[in-house]
Amino acid sequence: MSAGVDLAGARALVTGGAGTIGSHIVDQLVQAGAAEVVVLDNLVRGRVANLDRALAEGPGVVRLVEGDIRDVRTVHELTAGKDVVFHLAALRITQCAEEPRLALESLVDGTFTVLEAAVEHGVEKVVASSSASVYGLAEEFPTTERHHPYNNDTFYGAAKAFNEGMLRSFTAMYGLDYVALRYFNVYGPRMDVHGVYTEVLIRWMERIAAGRPPLILGDGKQTMDFVHVEDIARANLLAAQADVTDAVFNIAAGEETSLLQLAQRLLHVMDADLVPEHGEARKVNAVTRRLADITAARERLGWRPEIGLDEGLRGLVEWWRAEQAAVPAPTP
Ligand SMILES: NC(=O)c1ccc[n+]([C@@H]2O[C@H](COP(=O)([O-])OP(=O)(O)OC[C@H]3O[C@@H](n4cnc5c(N)ncnc54)[C@H](O)[C@@H]3O)[C@@H](O)[C@H]2O)c1
Repeated sequence: MSAGVDLAGARALVTGGAGTIGSHIVDQLVQAGAAEVVVLDNLVRGRVANLDRALAEGPGVVRLVEGDIRDVRTVHELTAGKDVVFHLAALRITQCAEEPRLALESLVDGTFTVLEAAVEHGVEKVVASSSASVYGLAEEFPTTERHHPYNNDTFYGAAKAFNEGMLRSFTAMYGLDYVALRYFNVYGPRMDVHGVYTEVLIRWMERIAAGRPPLILGDGKQTMDFVHVEDIARANLLAAQADVTDAVFNIAAGEETSLLQLAQRLLHVMDADLVPEHGEARKVNAVTRRLADITAARERLGWRPEIGLDEGLRGLVEWWRAEQAAVPAPTP
C-alpha cells in the first residue's frame, strides 16, 4: 500500500497553521486543490492575518479554529475525517528554556495527543516538524540524518528528538505513516515581527532602516544553513505525497552562511552602507556551526531548495517594508 497522500481533494489538519511555516503550508494546500484545510492554532504566536491569502484564494476551504493541541477533545474532533495532518504547533526554543513545563505540555504531551488522534481516526499520514536542534552542535559536516542527537542540550531539541522517537513507536505499535522534517534556519515572510522571540533578521532590518548597523551577537563567525519558508512548505507537501514513511529528512539549503556574511548580504539587499556591530553572544542555543546534507530529501522526496539567499532576503525585505507601511505611525 502506498504511503503517499493525493492532496487534490484531500482533507487536512494543520496544527500551528497560523504561524510562519504553517500558513505557507496552508497556502500551498489550497493551491494543490485540497478540499478542506482546518487550522488549529492558539495564536500565542501565529496571526490570523497570515491566513488572509489562503482564505481569499480558498473560500470555503480554509477554516481557523482558535484552540490548543493540549485540548484532547478539540484535537480529536478536528482530526476526525482528515486524510493528512501537518503538525507544526510548538513553542520557540527560547520560550522552551524559559518555561520548560509549558514546553513539556505543548511539544511532548500535545504531540502525543495529535498522534493518538491520528491513529484513532485513521489519518493516512502525519507530516511533523522537527528541527536541526536535535543535533546540537554536530560533529560532522555536512550533517546527515544519521548523526546522533546526544550533543543537543536544549529542552526544545530534547522534545523534538522525543517526538521523532514517539512517531517511530506509533509506526511500530499502530502502523501510523509519518515523515518528520528537520528544518535548519528558517526565514521568510510572516516571520514574527512583534513577538518577544523575534528573529535576528527582523531586528537587523529594523536597525538598518533606522540608519543603525546590524548588531551581531558574538563574533559573527557562527554559521547557519538558511532555508526559505516557501521551500519548507513545499517539502511538507512533498513529504505527504511521497510514498515514504517512517523517515526523517534534513530540510536546509545545504550551504553555510556566517552571521557576518548574512548581515553583509542584508545590508547589500537594503542598499545600506553600514558596518555590522558586535554584542554579547546568546546563552541558549549556542550552536556555532550548521551545515546540512540534504541528499536524502532530494533522492527520496524529490525536494530541493529553489529560493536562493539573495532572492529570499529581497522578498523578506519587501514583505517587511509592506508590513511597516501598514502599521499606523505613532501619534506625536
Ligand atoms: N522557525 C524555525 O527556525 C524552525 C526551525 C526548526 C523547526 N521549526 C519548527 O517548525 C514548526 C513551525 O515553526 P514556525 O517557525 O512556523 O513557528 P511559529 O511560532 O510561527 O508557529 C507555531 C504556531 O503554533 C502555534 N502554537 C503554539 N503552541 C500551540 C498550542 N499549544 N496549540 C495550538 N497552537 C499552538 C503558535 O501560535 C504558532 O502559530 C514548529 O514545530 C517549530 O518547532 C521551526
